[in-house]
This record gives sequence, structure tokens and C-alpha cells, in this order.
Amino acid sequence: MSPLTQRLVVVSNRLPIVLEKKSHGWGLKPGAGGLVSALAPVLSHRGGLWIGWPGLPLERGGAWEGVLAEGYRERGYELVPVLLSEDEVKGFYEGFANAILWPLFHDLLGQCNFDPSFWYAYLKVNEKFADCVIHHGRDEDFIWVQDYQLIHVAEYARRQRESARIGFFLHIPFPPLDILLKLPWRGQILQAFLAYDLLGFQTPRDTRNFLTCIASLLPEAEIHDGGAITEVRLGSRSVRVGAFPIGIDFQSYEDAARSEDVTRRRVELRERMGPRQLIVGVDRLDYTKGLVERLKAFRNALQRHKELREQAILFQVVVPSREGVPEYQSLKADIERLVGEINGEFSTAGWVPVHYHYKSLARRDLLALYRLARVCFVTSIKDGMNLVAKEFCAVQVDGCGVLVLSEFAGAAAQLQVGALLVNPHDIEGMADALKAAFDMDEDERRARMERMREVVREQDIFWWVDYYLQAALGTVPDDFRAMKEYLPPIMIEEYL
Ligand code: UDP
Ligand code: G6P
Repeated sequence: MSPLTQRLVVVSNRLPIVLEKKSHGWGLKPGAGGLVSALAPVLSHRGGLWIGWPGLPLERGGAWEGVLAEGYRERGYELVPVLLSEDEVKGFYEGFANAILWPLFHDLLGQCNFDPSFWYAYLKVNEKFADCVIHHGRDEDFIWVQDYQLIHVAEYARRQRESARIGFFLHIPFPPLDILLKLPWRGQILQAFLAYDLLGFQTPRDTRNFLTCIASLLPEAEIHDGGAITEVRLGSRSVRVGAFPIGIDFQSYEDAARSEDVTRRRVELRERMGPRQLIVGVDRLDYTKGLVERLKAFRNALQRHKELREQAILFQVVVPSREGVPEYQSLKADIERLVGEINGEFSTAGWVPVHYHYKSLARRDLLALYRLARVCFVTSIKDGMNLVAKEFCAVQVDGCGVLVLSEFAGAAAQLQVGALLVNPHDIEGMADALKAAFDMDEDERRARMERMREVVREQDIFWWVDYYLQAALGTVPDDFRAMKEYLPPIMIEEYL
């Protein structure tokens, strides 16, 4: 059987839903983040099994099991929970995954806490996930492990079922060699990748970083460059490696953007905001998103481009995330202080420059906000892809919004055709990009947005799945358009 027709078993740290303890019983809410938003339509479309953690420490036999079972029936695919104890959540999730791998893979060494106990928790939990895969998976399934929390799953699963077909997709960036070398467990992590049949990265840059690490640290590995897909052979293992930029369910965003519900909400929001133009930011509370830099850039724009005063509103949605990790708590305080400073300095009667919302939004509200915005402002210091940028494009059914996008977001490779690309460390450069977005005439805005929408439409989430599964078979679809890495043009000074 081929991966295209095999049952799909998705394995990710999170299930697409999070269980919530309510005053009377249990409830379900959607999980946060791009992985869940991207994969949920895939499973709804193909069916299959999703193995993951329901988002809080739990024990078997609770009333929550019935609530989760109800969730299965609504979705049309099965959810299999992996239960983690409080210690496992601390050591594996908050520790190794989010205080070591997450910052390190985003090149933020200063945020890492290389506590050795986190490593053992990581291995133990990865083994637990592998046991669950073996227990619930069948020989003929295609097992697709997602993201940095679960790199060791294939290694453990193969100890029990050597011939299983297992792919992996890394949603976050893969770091350059010099950064990976800092990891005390670099050898084990690198080798664990080689237990998969197919490794997917977001961009050509991540793929190149991975292959450089392999070539440098495992010189006995043979690397065969086959164009879009590279093959790595080591001992008895052969692993395919490629870049597969994750997409969104374009059609569903476009349809929802035109719906009456979203249109009505947009009108309500417009009435509330008055004639002012919105710059929208939507992010999990995360230091990789460049939220402090974004606020500084907006302040700089108000200082240097006075025409923006009383005209622009930065509408920033910050979705609570990883509240147990100390770095996330201090970031919240920094952001809130800056918001207060900017509003204190610039507000006038009837105009508050930063509207700050620390909560997650209902889909209808999020889409209405994207539709209303003149500018979507994405300033990631580093980001695997950034789906918010793509969602903004999909929702621009009027074709008039401008995307100001960090050149360090994976999305820059595909969206360089229309976005205003910025360096998130360049505060004045970002402020000037905001001004340029406000000054841009309608024809140029439309032309840029149309080019981006074409990419987001063509390379949507279903394209991504097909392309990945075909690569697992050893073939690449004819319509595959190779991505060009984004590199900033540097002007050569005349005196040179
Ligand atoms: N999102 C959400 N609720 C919100 C705001 C955003 O579910 O209130 C979604 C958003 O639509 C997007 C995802 O969260 O699909 C964020 O994905 P992205 O790739 O931008 O960043 P990540 O959080 O995965 O780092
Ligand atoms: C990013 C990661 C995902 C993660 C998500 C939300 O998108 O790539 O693996 O699920 O953030 O983070 P959380 O820690 O809440 O799962």
C-alpha cells in the first residue's frame, strides 16, 4: 500500500483540542498554534488517527474520557490521548522541549536551560508516545510524527516494529551547525532523525542546515543530492530529506472571509475603530515573535512619521502560551510595560494607538480583524513558517491589505513575491516599512496581494500533504515549484 492511500496516523505533542476543567465537569477548546491549525483540516479531510497530549496532567478513568470520546464523533477521525504526569509536563514539555529545543532551534541560546534532568524526561516521554503508536497503529499505517517535541519517537518505535513506515515534519527552523553544537545531546538528537524514512523541513535553508550538520558530524553518512529530495544513507538506514513549506486551508479561509457572519463582524469593528487604519499583529506570547521589537518599531514610526499619529492603530492580539516557562512570564511584563508607555506618550482624546488583547480570539473575530486591517505586521526574530501571514493573505478577498513580513519567517521564501520584507532587529527599517505600507497606492497593494494569494492558494495544506506523501513514495509531483530562499538585496556602494 502507498502512503497516499494508507491510513494516516498523525503523532504530535498536542491533540487538536485541549481539555479544560470547568466548575461542573470538563470542556474542550481548540489547541493554539500553527501545527494544530494546519493539520486539523488534513485529518478532517482524510480521516485517520491523531495521537497526542490533551494539554494538562491527567489520570486514566476520569470523566474527561467521555468528553474526549464525544470529540471523536464530531470530528470524523479518532483522537488517542497520551497522558503525562505533572513531572513529565515539567521535564519534557516545559523543560527539554520548550526551554532547550525551542530556543536553541530559533538561535536563541541565551534562553536555554540545559538542565540534564530535562533530557531524561524527554526520552521517557518520547518512548511513551512510541509505545502508544505501536499499540494503536497497524503495520500498514503511515505514521507521521510532528515537530521538535517528538524527535526520538521513530527510534523507540523501530525497536518494536522495525519495518514501520514513519515520516517526520519539523514545524520550527533547523539551526545552523554552530548553534546545534552547543546542545549537550547533539549526537543523540541528530542520529534520532535518521530513524525516519522521510524528513520534512519548512524551507531550503532548514534542509541545508540539517544536511550540513549531518555531513560535518557524521562523516560516514553518504549524502545523495537528488534535486528537491536528498537521500542520506548511514549503515542500514536510508532517509529522504526535503523542504515542504506548510500551507493553510486557503479555500476555507476565503469562504469564511466572504461569509455574512465575518462581514457583519467586520462592519461592527469598523464602526468601533472609526476611520483609523489598523495594523494587526496576531501571535502566541513568544519571544521568537519579536513582539518587543514590533512595539518599538510602532513607537518609532509614531515619533518619526507624525502623519501616522491619530491615523494608525496597532491592534495586537497575544494568545497566552507556555505559562509555566519562566521566560514567557517575564516577556508578558515587558510587552505590557511597553504598551503602557506608548499609549501614555501618544494617546489623544479619542485615539489610543495600541489596542492590546491578551486572549485567544474566536475564528470569526480573527477573520474580521484580518479583513479590516490595512497592514499585517509579522516581526518574528525567527519562525518556522508563520501561518498568520498566509491566513492574512487568504482573507484579503478585497485584495487591499499589505503584509509587512520578517525576512526570518519561513513564509518569506514564498511571500517575497509581494510582502514588504523587514529585518526585525532594524527598528527604523520596520517603522519605515509601516509608513511605506500606508503610502502605497491601491494598484500596487492589489498587485502585491494577488501574487501572494496565488502562492498561498496553490501551495495550500492539501498540496503540502500530497507533496509530502508523494515524496515518501520517492516521487515529487510535476507541479512542484522549487522555492527560492529569501536573501536581502544589498546595494553595492558606488565607491567600491
Ligand atoms: N490563532 C488561534 N487563535 C487566536 C489567534 C491565532 O488559533 O486567537 C491561530 C492562527 O490563526 C494561526 C496560529 O494560531 O493559525 C498561529 O500559527 P503561526 O504559524 O503563526 O505561529 P505559531 O503559534 O505556530 O508559532
Ligand atoms: C508551534 C509549535 C507547535 C506547538 C505550537 C503551540 O506552532 O511548532 O509544535 O504546538 O507552537 O505551542 P504549545 O506549546 O502550546 O503546543
